[in-house]
Amino acid sequence: MDNMQFEFSDTIAGYVLEFDEKKNIFKLRTTNNRDFFIKLTATTIGRILRNLDEPYMDCTGEIKDLPTGMYKYNNRSHSLSLVKSDDLRPSLSQAALNQPWVKEAPLVIIICADYSITTSRYGSRGKRYVDIELGHVGQNIYLEATALGLGTVAVGAFDDRSVKEVLDVKEDPLYIFPVGARK
Ligand SMILES: Cc1cc2nc3c(=O)[nH]c(=O)nc-3n(C[C@H](O)[C@H](O)[C@H](O)COP(=O)(O)O)c2cc1C
Repeated sequence: MDNMQFEFSDTIAGYVLEFDEKKNIFKLRTTNNRDFFIKLTATTIGRILRNLDEPYMDCTGEIKDLPTGMYKYNNRSHSLSLVKSDDLRPSLSQAALNQPWVKEAPLVIIICADYSITTSRYGSRGKRYVDIELGHVGQNIYLEATALGLGTVAVGAFDDRSVKEVLDVKEDPLYIFPVGARK
């Protein structure tokens, strides 16, 4: 663990790995793998860093742990919205032939597709495009998990209808990625 060697104002950039809501402390890992624990005090301000030339958005008080639940990824805003507040992992694991990692992993990513969006534009070839993209997404999850020092496993063995019921979605579930600490 690194101690900050400066008392003056400075910047550390990194990935937030943990957040202890009770102590208001989060763990930050820099790209050169140095870990810092950072305490949020009453006077801490937060900003979301945007691309060059975009304005800063003040997000003071918005750093919170992600509550348990099912979130939908919004591809237009690159954001997550809470859909259900229940822990779906036990029923999801059951639908995936009781694979334990599906209920044990702190994060489970389920990739679903609505084939009609692409087939309505590209005809039957649209199915192939979805499947190709599915492979890319899966690869990216492996790469990102590895970059964060985490592990994942591609899960394709599950009952489609049961997973769809658990999630209560109209799209077809195609791939499940439990993500967590490597054992
Ligand atoms: C399409 C596909 C589906 C898979 N489904 C499962 C699965 O349901 N459960 C599982 O444990 N491994 C499944 N695997 C295998 C794992 O994802 C992984 O490749 C394998 O466990 C080897 O992992 P390792 O190289 O990290 O040891 C699947 C792999 C692929 C490519």
